[in-house]
Amino acid sequence: MSQSAPCQIADVIDECLGFIEADARKRHVHIECKTPALPDVLADRLMLEQVLLNLIRNGMDAMSEVAEPERLLNISVICRAEEVEIQVSDQGCGIPAEVKDKLFTAFFTTKPDGMGIGLSICRSIIEFHRGRLWAEDNPKSATGSGTIFHLTLPLEHT
Ligand SMILES: Nc1ncnc2c1ncn2[C@@H]1O[C@H](COP(=O)(O)OP(=O)(O)O)[C@@H](O)[C@H]1O
Ligand SMILES: [Mg+2]
Repeated sequence: MSQSAPCQIADVIDECLGFIEADARKRHVHIECKTPALPDVLADRLMLEQVLLNLIRNGMDAMSEVAEPERLLNISVICRAEEVEIQVSDQGCGIPAEVKDKLFTAFFTTKPDGMGIGLSICRSIIEFHRGRLWAEDNPKSATGSGTIFHLTLPLEHT
């Protein structure tokens, strides 16, 4: 069952960073994160954490072949009048065109030990929250390739 309640995106991200910190250190991934002051979002906090953790883990996986100093993952948040957008950017291998169409399909994976259900669940969770989840190439990557996952969540105006 879902449990939607007002929550602070900055706290949700902080909690994810706490979970992932040790793993990131072990994999020599530097995580950068700046969160502006934000209004509350009505969401199921645990579900949102699942989404963010999968996006962060995917970004770290994508950078496993990148030179250590360039293993940079950035999380940023943009607040608009009607929605909040979270971006998770990596400087990893990028997503080939033929993979882009299958990204959100259940059980699609390119990893030898992958489950491939992460992104399909992420999209269901975000759509349940009436938001959107999509991927784009990272144009600012210092390695010349990489991906930005964007997710939006509507702001409730009461
Ligand atoms: N940040 C990323 N960079 C490059 N490829 C990615 C990224 N995130 C996801 N992918 C691709 O999408 C596939 C599906 O991801 P996901 O549903 O999370 O399953 P899994 O992580 O188990 O493979 C991955 O196997 C990978 O090919
Ligand atoms: Mg995954």
